Order: sequence, then C-alpha cells, then structure tokens
Amino acid sequence: MRQKIIAGNWKMNNSNTESLSLLQELLNFNFPKDIRIIISPPYTQLGLVNEKLEKSNIEVASQNMHFADNGAYTGEISSSMIKSLGVFISILGHSERRTYFNETDESLKEKVDKAINENIEIIFCVGEKLSDRNSGNHFEHIKIQLEKTVFLQPAESWKKIIIAYEPIWAIGTGETASPKQVQEMHLFIRNIISENYSKTLADSISIIYGGSVKPSNANDIFSQSDVDGGLIGGASLKSKDFAAIVNAS
Ligand code: 13P
Repeated sequence: MRQKIIAGNWKMNNSNTESLSLLQELLNFNFPKDIRIIISPPYTQLGLVNEKLEKSNIEVASQNMHFADNGAYTGEISSSMIKSLGVFISILGHSERRTYFNETDESLKEKVDKAINENIEIIFCVGEKLSDRNSGNHFEHIKIQLEKTVFLQPAESWKKIIIAYEPIWAIGTGETASPKQVQEMHLFIRNIISENYSKTLADSISIIYGGSVKPSNANDIFSQSDVDGGLIGGASLKSKDFAAIVNAS
C-alpha cells in the first residue's frame, strides 16, 4: 500500500508567534494515523517547529537545501545544518526556487545526490508552465525534469523519494488542475518510473499533487487512483483548511 501524504509548504510566511499558534491549533486536531503529515516552515523556524512537534506524528521538512557541505554560499543552508535540527526531509525543485532563484535540472541533480547521500528524504517537485500545457508539451517537459535528476539515482534511492506534481499555472492562482488532468499526469509519471526501474518500484512511490488544493476540491483530486496526497501552499496556513484537506485524503 502506498503511503498517503499531506505536506504543508508554508513558503515565506508567518512570524515565530504566528507559527506557534498555527502549530497549537494543528496539534488540537485528531489526524488519522494512516496519513503521513509533513509541515515545511521557513528555515528560521525549522528547529522551533520540530521541537514543538517532537511528540506528535507530524514531521518537518525544509523548503530547500544546498548541495555543498559548507562554505562561501551566503544565504544558503546545508544538509548537515538541517539534520542538526532533527530534520530529515527536504522539498527540492519547487517551481518558485526554479523561477526566482534560477535552480536548474543540473543544480537540482547535485542537490538530489547530496540529499540521498546524507540520508535526507526528498519531496521532489516537477511541473509545467501553462505554455507547455497549451502546446501539448507537458508530458515531455515532466519527463525531462525527472530524467535529468531523480532518474539518475539507483533504485534503492527511491525509498527516499516522494514526487510532487505541481503545475506552475495552478500554484497560488486559484486555478486547479482538473482531477482528470492530475490523474493523467500522475499515471504518466508512475509509468515512466516503471519503465526506468520496475512496476513494483513504481507502485510503491507516493506521487502527490500541489496547486490550489482547498477543502472544496481536495476530495475530488485525492480520490484519483494515482494521487497519493497533496503538497499544500496557501491552505496550509489555516489550520481548519489544512485539517479538512488531511481528512479529505
Ligand atoms: P498553493 O496551494 O498556494 O497553490 O501552493 C502550492 C504549492 O506551491 C505547494 O508547494
């Protein structure tokens, strides 16, 4: 059985005080035990959030990490820094990192290598622009993003890889991919994992969807057979919405 996962990407939001009250609200919900819940706060709150969630079954992920061990990389954060806070999961390749911080498939390959070598689990994001979708190039685009990064890993690394499909045109726009569009892409991703590795491996990988998931559309998206949960942005900042999304999965 594939693991269901709901991850909240808080992006660059919340003061420490706001995050603490959001966490307190989340801890008051009785989340189903069979769903893996992950929260990804800004770097400055990774330690604080992880400490507060220590006794809960909610896990913590960083929103990014650098591929070098240490050195002259002003503004960056390394895998050992994340691990020293007790955090062992990182989102990599988010489209906002690719778009605003010039992350490329080449630099992401380095990050994937580093994370896997350091035993950090990754939520690896892929997604196409509206222009790719409109020109019918969306499947090829996703294939290339995977081929240049995670598909270069050996099969055993996939124990540490979660794929997040996040079409750029659906992120923060209020526009959600239809359940049919999401299912079609998730199945495509699963099939190419199967071609590159094996059906058994492909069937074990969680592929989650991100892009304007809300309580009102979560159930329709999560009920698709190849959708194993979601990566939630805006709605993860409101405890009631996030809880409703967890309960819809
Ligand atoms: P929204 O849910 O705000 O569209 O963000 C999705 C996302 O980018 C999660 O990583």
